[in-house]
Amino acid sequence: MALYALGDLHLAYQSEKTMDIFGKVWKNHEKKTEKNCAKLMTDEDTLVLVGDHSWGRHLDECEYDLRFIESLPGRKILVRGNHDNFWDAKKTQRLNDMFKDRLYFLQNNFYSYKDYAIVGTKGYCYEGFDTREHADMLIEREAKRLKVSFEEARKAGYEKFIMFLHYPPTELGERDSRFTYMAKAYGVSQVVYAHCHGKERFHDSLLGKVDGIEYSLVSGDFLDFKPKLILP
Ligand SMILES: [Fe+2]
Repeated sequence: MALYALGDLHLAYQSEKTMDIFGKVWKNHEKKTEKNCAKLMTDEDTLVLVGDHSWGRHLDECEYDLRFIESLPGRKILVRGNHDNFWDAKKTQRLNDMFKDRLYFLQNNFYSYKDYAIVGTKGYCYEGFDTREHADMLIEREAKRLKVSFEEARKAGYEKFIMFLHYPPTELGERDSRFTYMAKAYGVSQVVYAHCHGKERFHDSLLGKVDGIEYSLVSGDFLDFKPKLILP
């Protein structure tokens, strides 16, 4: 039994989009993912997919992509990414009902792995695409959603947490953020995030042990689509 994480599959079974233009690492990346998961994982394992699952704009355009995810071994827990337009955060329960016992959508709720609670939300960080004010508003909203996830887990008696974000926990040059403060306040042991593509972005945020918390980047191209072991 093990807990793995991988982000940014950017699947496009029903769309013209291709990730191949972003470099060799993206060539047949679905097949690589499938092969690596089959080799590494069994149905006893849990895989947290850390956002940007599909290019589909609506649920009916994601059908094949979600079916692909379903076909991977083990229990699959999904976090929202910035490209996951099929997933309205306020309607997460609807997705959980629709995909009951097949896929698990993490938003304003939590899942458990051994004595750990798996908590998470999309997160956000300023990347120069909007205004500082707008970014701060989104960070605030995401922090609130993350807090709900933590509080639900706490209410259920959990004291150990693994925290998942799609966006990196800090912005360029930051050592701390709304999200790292929360991780410290709740005594999180690991923070796992994705979203950063390309060599020049892999070091945008925290990596390794910082203030006693282990930070991991699990974007697909960073890991060459081999899920990272988070907990045995
Ligand atoms: Fe992303």
